Amino acid sequence: MILLFRQMDLEDLETVKSIDKLAFPNPWPENAFQYELEKNTNARLWVGEFQDGEKSTIVALAVIWIILDEAHIGTIAIHPAYQNRGCGQQFLAFICRQLISENITRIFLEVRKSNDVAIHLYQKFGFTIDGERKHYYRDNNETAILMSAAIKKSGFYDQFLLDYQLTFDSASKEIQE
Ligand SMILES: CC(C)(COP(=O)(O)OP(=O)(O)OC[C@H]1O[C@@H](n2cnc3c(N)ncnc32)[C@H](O)[C@@H]1OP(=O)(O)O)[C@@H](O)C(=O)NCCC(=O)NCCS
Repeated sequence: MILLFRQMDLEDLETVKSIDKLAFPNPWPENAFQYELEKNTNARLWVGEFQDGEKSTIVALAVIWIILDEAHIGTIAIHPAYQNRGCGQQFLAFICRQLISENITRIFLEVRKSNDVAIHLYQKFGFTIDGERKHYYRDNNETAILMSAAIKKSGFYDQFLLDYQLTFDSASKEIQE
């Protein structure tokens, strides 16, 4: 199977929303992805999908907002059944390379203080902590860590994209639909 990334389409919305619900305790409101896709010209929406012959399976989603030469990660998620096997870092590398082509110089985000996997991933990409916002997440009152990173030259991101194919032993890893 090969993991490919592309712009999100309207036809992807139902799958995207279901991954969002599985990946986060506080998923986005029902129409939020559609709004970003159709109305927000500053939003960039991408998905990652595994292709296996004729079959393709969306496993990743991201929404990035662009303001002048800065980008803000609105959301990024990997389907839980596919987490922790390198998809997130390939996706983030793809996103950063896309942002280079839009002349973005810096990228910002918020992340839950307890989200060790995401924080680890961001630090690998050169993100550092700028500060925190207490009581930021309404579902559990959790603190948000504010992080940012300078966008690097594209060569930096290549190491995460080096054509490595992820393989899965099928049954247990298949998405439950
Ligand atoms: C955060 C997320 C996008 C990362 O994607 P992923 O495909 O799971 O991540 P990867 O497999 O590419 O990388 C995971 C890294 O975290 C590391 N990791 C795993 N468990 C860890 C833990 N408990 N503490 C610290 N690091 C951990 C892995 O070892 C790996 O790092 P390495 O390559 O240096 O070994 C994904 O887990 C996800 O969708 N989570 C739920 C939604 C979310 O939290 N989104 C981010 C919001 S800011």
